[in-house]
Amino acid sequence: MKKTVIALLLAMVLVLSLGACGGEESTEGDTVVYKVGTEPTFPPFDTTDEDQNIVGLDMDLITAIGEDQGFEVQFENLSFDGLIPALQAGNIDIVAAGMNKDDPERQEQVDFSDAYYESKLMVAVTEDNTDIQSVDDLTPDMKVAAQTGTTGASKVQELADQGKIGEAVILDGLDTCMMQLINGDVAAVINDKPVTEAYMKKQPDKIKMVGDPLNAENYGFAVAKGNEELLEKINAGLANIKEDGTFDELVDKWFNQ
Ligand code: ARG
Repeated sequence: MKKTVIALLLAMVLVLSLGACGGEESTEGDTVVYKVGTEPTFPPFDTTDEDQNIVGLDMDLITAIGEDQGFEVQFENLSFDGLIPALQAGNIDIVAAGMNKDDPERQEQVDFSDAYYESKLMVAVTEDNTDIQSVDDLTPDMKVAAQTGTTGASKVQELADQGKIGEAVILDGLDTCMMQLINGDVAAVINDKPVTEAYMKKQPDKIKMVGDPLNAENYGFAVAKGNEELLEKINAGLANIKEDGTFDELVDKWFNQ
């Protein structure tokens, strides 16, 4: 009899703990904690501080949205092309990564919140480059870099497929893309304008942007397809922090600091 009770209790503990790690979110006391995935070489949206903590405008926004909606967040560092698979697998609950929501392929895979930032892709070259003044000046002897899984990478791949550039150099981190550009390993980088601007600020007089924007995009937070409950919370929180001025304050903090 005693043994059966112990066995039953053990089984219950097992089921409960399995439930806790298999589930998407965890609970701390009464608060839900959502796992937020990002790729942090994308300043000022997604970056790291001196202690390697994940910080940035995206992190502050989703934290503020959580405060408004009564949930907490915990950040996970993933490669950019691993973010959507991680959402789909239930390993994370939210993607906050400056992700363009106007992408039909992504829209089939995940659900996006309302847009929170307008952006565009630009060609970046070294400051002293006078040959490349727009995307049309890229030639079949050139290597052009972009971050894996991004809209910039699709653009670079398209140029390579059309034979307009010699090689698409697809790298894991934007820091590596920028380093390769400065070192002269690649002729250009295609990346989001506000982020290339942040790299230009960090290392003055090394990089510049040329030509017209190559697209227009809108960043949104992503959740697993069909997770309406969380999407509604994010949209409601986003509307509230826009309304009460928190949103503008955070944008100002990250763009003008
Ligand atoms: N906006 C681009 C895209 O959606 C690039 C985003 C890269 N984000 C990052 N955290 N590395 O593909």
